[in-house]
Amino acid sequence: MALTEKDLKEIPETGINPGNPGKYQEFLEDLQGNILKGHGRDYSVHLFLKWKLEQVKKAKQWIKNFAQTYVTSAKQQADEALKYRTQKITGSVFANIFFTRKGYQALGFGAIQIPKDQPFTMGMKHEQIRDSLGDPEVEEWEEGFQQEIHALILIADDVPDTLSKTVDEIKRELCDVAVIIHQQDGFVLRNEAGQVIEHFGFVDGVSQPLFLQGDIEKAQTKDCNFSLWDPRAPLEIIVVKDPNGKRDDSYGSYLVYRKLEQNVQGFRGDQQKLAHQLSINNDLAGALVVGRFADGTPVTESDVPTCCGTPPTNNFNYDADFPATKCPFHAHIRKTNPRGDTGKVESSPGCDEALAMERNHRIARRAISYGENDPNQTPETGSGLLFLCFQANTENQFNFIQARWSNPDRFVQVGVGPDPLIGQPEGTQKWPKQWGGTETEDYDFKLWVSMKGGEYFFAPSLSFLTCLV
Ligand code: HEM
Repeated sequence: MALTEKDLKEIPETGINPGNPGKYQEFLEDLQGNILKGHGRDYSVHLFLKWKLEQVKKAKQWIKNFAQTYVTSAKQQADEALKYRTQKITGSVFANIFFTRKGYQALGFGAIQIPKDQPFTMGMKHEQIRDSLGDPEVEEWEEGFQQEIHALILIADDVPDTLSKTVDEIKRELCDVAVIIHQQDGFVLRNEAGQVIEHFGFVDGVSQPLFLQGDIEKAQTKDCNFSLWDPRAPLEIIVVKDPNGKRDDSYGSYLVYRKLEQNVQGFRGDQQKLAHQLSINNDLAGALVVGRFADGTPVTESDVPTCCGTPPTNNFNYDADFPATKCPFHAHIRKTNPRGDTGKVESSPGCDEALAMERNHRIARRAISYGENDPNQTPETGSGLLFLCFQANTENQFNFIQARWSNPDRFVQVGVGPDPLIGQPEGTQKWPKQWGGTETEDYDFKLWVSMKGGEYFFAPSLSFLTCLV
């Protein structure tokens, strides 16, 4: 029996168990991997494609073969992860395929067959979208992203050699049916403790919506039974019905892709300036910008880093810090997930309702770094984050976070300032009084992240891909 609306709204308390999926069996078999949980491979290659319009029939055949041979379902991803954990048998090369609205059209699909999300329909280059997100003119994007993009192929593995051999083979096969307009190579950057970090040096990928039983159980043990923050999420925030799926439970997800360059040297310089201005140490200055110390310790919980290589907690909220004397309102993680702050400002609909609404804006982040792979270097250009996130509704999720929370000076309160990591345009932020800032003294933390291009995609179901004619 097909999943009901209730099944999408209410995830079982313990999450979905791919080892014993029950009513989720077909759903997991037909959904692409990487959506409910990151693929976890250390290296990935992203190929941006444009179909050759005179070869559409062949292109469809190619997609069908590619899906049958390479594309990993959510079920296969989970089965391979289990085999690795229990028998140390490594999984196969991981692959996804995603289409843009123009990509569907180029393959001959009509309006009713194309997923309906508004930003996906408009495309990231659309002036209205760029205006709302605060993105630069398309002429300033990297050349590869300025062109019309039809599809994105993601191929990932832990062994660089295996990956590059597979990518070469796929590229050879592709040349008959598509032009590869751009390639992005990504890798997982790690600190000395082996934790995943981004280029500014902060542990990343900690706070995510969780859907699967194994992830929920692990987090529940680490995070005191979710007493302050519950990371569990219903399927309705991440999947939508695939209009072309061939099974009762054919679902897909919208992917937002953004290439975000990070000027590490600039960031570090500003971090030091901020430390000096507020008479605090460098670590704390960084934590006031991000909301967590580099090791992941939430600054609302402690004014010194305490994780030191152990997995950071995600069991916290800002209830006891509403004046924001510990974690500034503008800190990146407080802007992008206010954890209940919106219920505490004037004219809010009430705490529970506001928190429930906030939680509907959550995204599943699947970013990976690019550029310099030595974390001790401080590049000014050429390095950054390939920011990917999945969701069911891009207007209400990624776009909402960027345009309504991160960018505005007035979120969550008037005069708070934009998010100093990703808020556009850059602006001045107010720093908590006890760290030396005053209500009147603003500090200009420059924006060291620049958007180099991107696009909206849809991840179709496997039954659609493997039945293409
Ligand atoms: C180069 C750009 C970016 C950098 C360096 C960056 C860095 C970080 C770091 C260090 C964390 C804390 C660790 C964690 O919870 O995973 C974080 C969390 C987060 N980031 Fe970003 N990020 C970037 C871009 C973005 C963008 C574009 C968005 C969405 C508009 C975003 C949304 C989030 C969210 C939702 C969280 C989790 C907040 C929470 O639940 O506490 N980030 N980011």
